[in-house]
Amino acid sequence: RRRTAVLRREAVLATVPVAVAALLGAAGPAAAGTTGAAGAGDPYFPLSGNGGYHVSHYDLTLRYDTASRHLDGKAVLSARATQRLTRFDLDLKGLKVTGVTVGRTAAGYRRHGQELVVTPRHALRKDQEFRVTVTYHGTPKPVTDPDGSADGWIPTDDGAFVAGEPQGAMTWFPANGHPKDKSSYDFTITVPEGRTAVANGILRGQHTAHGRTTFRWHEAAPMAAYLATATVGTFKVERYTTPDGIQVYNAVDPREAHASAPVLKQLPSVLAWESKLFGPYPFRAAGAIVDHAPGVGYALETQTRPVYDSAPDLSTLVHESAHQWFGDSVSLTSWKDIWLNEGFATYAEWLYSEQHGGDSAQKTFDALYARPAGDHLWAFPPGDPGSGKNIFDTPVYARGAMALHELRKAVGDTDFLRILHAWAAEHRAGHGTTAQFVRLAERESGKDLDGLFHTWLYVKGKPKSA
Ligand code: ARG
Ligand code: ZN
Repeated sequence: RRRTAVLRREAVLATVPVAVAALLGAAGPAAAGTTGAAGAGDPYFPLSGNGGYHVSHYDLTLRYDTASRHLDGKAVLSARATQRLTRFDLDLKGLKVTGVTVGRTAAGYRRHGQELVVTPRHALRKDQEFRVTVTYHGTPKPVTDPDGSADGWIPTDDGAFVAGEPQGAMTWFPANGHPKDKSSYDFTITVPEGRTAVANGILRGQHTAHGRTTFRWHEAAPMAAYLATATVGTFKVERYTTPDGIQVYNAVDPREAHASAPVLKQLPSVLAWESKLFGPYPFRAAGAIVDHAPGVGYALETQTRPVYDSAPDLSTLVHESAHQWFGDSVSLTSWKDIWLNEGFATYAEWLYSEQHGGDSAQKTFDALYARPAGDHLWAFPPGDPGSGKNIFDTPVYARGAMALHELRKAVGDTDFLRILHAWAAEHRAGHGTTAQFVRLAERESGKDLDGLFHTWLYVKGKPKSA
């Protein structure tokens, strides 16, 4: 969730659009056949992800020196070719690669912008399973997004705030960096003694030797690369298991401890409330990473364990928690569909308020609808933000939530909740598109909803009927 929407928008204008065709280069779609495409085909982020293979598992071994900001990395990717491959790409920006092997054999590689182009000694057959090992090191730097914000590995005064939406995974590990591709993860992260490295999932072990501590994390559920974290800092750690058996691990920067304590105490009840609304919590682990990272300006729903740039308020906790269902378990296939993440997480905030003594969703809707036609809220429709620079902007969050409120009014509360449940259940650990959501809502309600979704998701300007 964003804290600095207005400021961010000013920065956007300074961003130069990328010459996509030039960047696609020799590994682009034109060279299709036996070479894997340089991107997953996303119109907003054409170089994110890659073609020709699927990664089932990432095994990341990292060592971060917080003083020098130097990262040593080794990534072992377990993958399967979806076509014959004489060559394929990984996404990796910055950092120096010192070796690439495919199977046991050294492979050829070259850097081309954010593409690490790998040529295995022997071509891979379609459906062949293979293992890629990349060793690398350097000083990771965040990537600047089209909206002027930064994501990826963001150094802090005591470590790093690590949040990769939409394209920052490639700043710290070689990735198939598009939410179309989801994988399980192991992390082995070594940091100076006294610092804590927090990743996704379950803490498998921790040991200290020679002034360094190694943390081993495991996330078994399929995860998009942008939802991986390896946030490092000086943290107070709290661990417990909820009555539902969810393993909670909270890591809090002491400077944010006082402000975050009352909010973090609500995490089990927020997850229980959301489980009633959306269906069972999709993961085994939960928690929060509350960093002190001034200048970041947002929180991210990193899978199982959202990362906050400072102490969150309760509404932000509700928002990032709702993303565990909508965005993390049910993933996008295209960044254009971002309202499926942000509209849903925002509507969860409205529902939470309504059911906990705050404003009703209707009241929140009415206040937004009262904004004049020239207001930024109506600048573009949430189902078609137009470009990557708009994906985290108000129309996606607020008008996206308004679309869900209109749906709720059209089908009634019972069917509305059935729709949310069915969406989370049927697409759990997978993907969903806007078209699939519309079909599911029509199926569950027995109503023709094309007009409603067209109006709220796709019509430019302020919708006339409300
Ligand atoms: N998905 C996050 C949230 O709404 C926002 C991420 C913003 N990312 C960025 N690079 N500005 O919870
Ligand atoms: Zn969000």
